[in-house]
Amino acid sequence: MREKYNQLTTLLGQIADLRHTAALLEWDQQTYMPEGAAVARGRQIATISTIAHNMSTSPELGSLLDELQSWAEGQGVDSTVCSLVRVARRDYMKEVRVPADYVEEFSIVTTAAHHAWTDARAKSAFAIFRPHLEKIVELNKRYISFFPPADHPYDTLLDNFEPGMKTAEVKAIFEKLRPAQVKLIQAISGRQQVNDKFMNLQYDEQKQWDFGVMVATAFGYDWRRGRQDRSAHPFTTSFSMDDVRITTRFEKNSGASALFSTMHETGHALYEQGISPELNRTPLEGGASLALHESQSRLWENIVGRSLPFWEYFYPQLQKIFPAHLAGIRLDDWYMGINRVERSLIRVEADEATYNLHIMLRLELEIAMIEGSINVKDLPEAWNARMQQYLGITPPDDAHGVLQDIHWAGGMLGYFSTYALGNLISAQLWEKHAADNPGIEEQMRKGDFTRLLDWLRGNIHCHGRKFEPQKLVERVTGRGIDP
Ligand code: CO
Repeated sequence: MREKYNQLTTLLGQIADLRHTAALLEWDQQTYMPEGAAVARGRQIATISTIAHNMSTSPELGSLLDELQSWAEGQGVDSTVCSLVRVARRDYMKEVRVPADYVEEFSIVTTAAHHAWTDARAKSAFAIFRPHLEKIVELNKRYISFFPPADHPYDTLLDNFEPGMKTAEVKAIFEKLRPAQVKLIQAISGRQQVNDKFMNLQYDEQKQWDFGVMVATAFGYDWRRGRQDRSAHPFTTSFSMDDVRITTRFEKNSGASALFSTMHETGHALYEQGISPELNRTPLEGGASLALHESQSRLWENIVGRSLPFWEYFYPQLQKIFPAHLAGIRLDDWYMGINRVERSLIRVEADEATYNLHIMLRLELEIAMIEGSINVKDLPEAWNARMQQYLGITPPDDAHGVLQDIHWAGGMLGYFSTYALGNLISAQLWEKHAADNPGIEEQMRKGDFTRLLDWLRGNIHCHGRKFEPQKLVERVTGRGIDP
């Protein structure tokens, strides 16, 4: 059986190599590739992805997984061997259900939809995007039909981003959270608003870059196994656990946005860099789920990076770098400014207090589209009605409403809730960490994050994809995701 297991890990290693190679091509596409190379690059990525797909749906892989199953279970349910076979099998069973012609059609439809969405958003005209989104909803329904019926059809989509998570669970979490959150925001809106004008100034990009690098280094990002570049949208990608890269962007007149985005991506990257080396080149390398991944980025960006102890250490240094901007701004003003709460239209610019409501709105609309209780043509109205209900504001046009996100154009339904779940998990992990390490605030005041990172490594990062997200959260905190 050992020999069969070696055959399996060899095959899975080759698949991992191909996927990482495609990721490297995609990274280049978003950073340095000249525009003219787009068509050729698209073809190259498609070729490599097809080879990887063929290998990961091959009968050879299927029979190895069958043969190894009971032997692997005999190694103990939490063992690496058993987890590897279980997760590889899960991935395999999913991939083989989806016919090749569907994959091709999906790719054609979403490529066209992406163009249409860009155009529709620029013109703020939902009608341009509507027929494409209708096709995408139909495709997602067809995708669901390839799988055995679940409790709710949306479960099948959600499972691709949050393994094991059920629609009913997410709904229950959000239904408990929403009224409290709406009430909180109403209360804040009734108060005098915080001044954050110093945020909307022009800050030197190189200095912002240097400061971001300093913070990422303090967090524990390993530059020997990573690097930072610029891209239109910040992201983290990895080509192995020894090459985990982040990107950032600078926006005019938005002082700290690059800094917080660097902290966010560093959080994602620390997760990938911290996965146990024994999981290298296996399906277990990578985060447990999107929500777990987002819990790491949010923890570093929001819980650490917007806290007073963090800035007690870093603010004097920031002031020294930007004396013209910040000399007259006290630490307390800065701290209040970076934590300003405001009801706003755009999800990616939303603060911590309002963010989850943007997500709940999207989840409800996605579920309704899959259930068929709402038609795509009625989406803008439904969107605006919920914005009014949850946040008390109405988008002036579709570009600031239903057309703002790229996800649906990419065919992705089932993705959004992971952002809000990640916020919740980050808070739960923090609570547990603070109990285990009561000196954390004092450590942050000294710019020392070693114990925090060690704790995250030992409890979350090292396991990679071994455990389902809910089970991992329960293992660490003693309960599942809890609003
Ligand atoms: Co993120």
